[in-house]
Amino acid sequence: MRWDPGQYQRYGDERSRPFVELLDRIDVARGVNATDPSYVVDLGCGPGNLTRSLSHRWPTAETLGVDSSTDMVAAAREHAIEGRLEFAVGDLAVWQAARPVDVLVANAALHWVPHHVDLIAGFADTLAPGGVFAFQVPDNFTEPSHTLLRDLRRSPRWRDRIGADADRGAGVERPETYLRALVDAGLAPDVWQSEYLHVLVGANAVLEWVKGTALRPVLSLLTDDAERDEFLESYAAQLRTAYPEQDFGTVFPFRRTFAVGRKS
Ligand SMILES: C[S@@+](CC[C@H](N)C(=O)[O-])C[C@H]1O[C@@H](n2cnc3c(N)ncnc32)[C@H](O)[C@@H]1O
Repeated sequence: MRWDPGQYQRYGDERSRPFVELLDRIDVARGVNATDPSYVVDLGCGPGNLTRSLSHRWPTAETLGVDSSTDMVAAAREHAIEGRLEFAVGDLAVWQAARPVDVLVANAALHWVPHHVDLIAGFADTLAPGGVFAFQVPDNFTEPSHTLLRDLRRSPRWRDRIGADADRGAGVERPETYLRALVDAGLAPDVWQSEYLHVLVGANAVLEWVKGTALRPVLSLLTDDAERDEFLESYAAQLRTAYPEQDFGTVFPFRRTFAVGRKS
């Protein structure tokens, strides 16, 4: 499955807000007297703009962004600063830290990995004393943006082409499960949810949003242009009904789960 950094960043402001809010709670977890971190890692860093903000936040730290998409890492490397902010291609499911990490972040990335909750203990092990692991995952898999897509894929017209193969096999856990996993890994937990009412402007705004994320596996399979257009038209029509455009834009509710764990 290929990622498209340009499409993903189309709603950059809305997508970066949870990251900023996660960062606020990292500061709280680290405490007012914490010395600046020396090693910061951003797993599933995407196009690197948010990894760069980590490097701005802690300019004396060495910051590493890791992503499995070569397209994303190529885009991220535009932000690289030698010796201070670097990017590498890698799979977060098997990633090993080169040295103890003071701040480990995974924003909107873990849910792409099946059974990611099982990785939390390993991430906790990579932390330096006082280190913090912070992540955010969407919790909107039961919303129309996802259920309409799934139902359309499994409809008689499409099920033989993209019925099963486009299933990511991944999903998210309840917030309580993440909290328990942090505790079991020996971290002091801080877990919460927020629901954003994004106001998206432009025609077919929800479709354009989903094209940057949940539609990627489907689009990877629909390589024929006519087939792809037909699928997108059907899906777009259903999205317009579920998320009607209003005079000020299209309201796109989006719930997210946040989790921060600090090693004592
Ligand atoms: C929704 S984007 C989030 C990007 C960035 N963290 C942000 O918040 O803007 C998800 C990213 O996770 C990456 N990703 C998915 N599975 C991964 C894996 N197994 N290992 C590393 N990165 C992965 C994708 O390539 C993509 O760049």
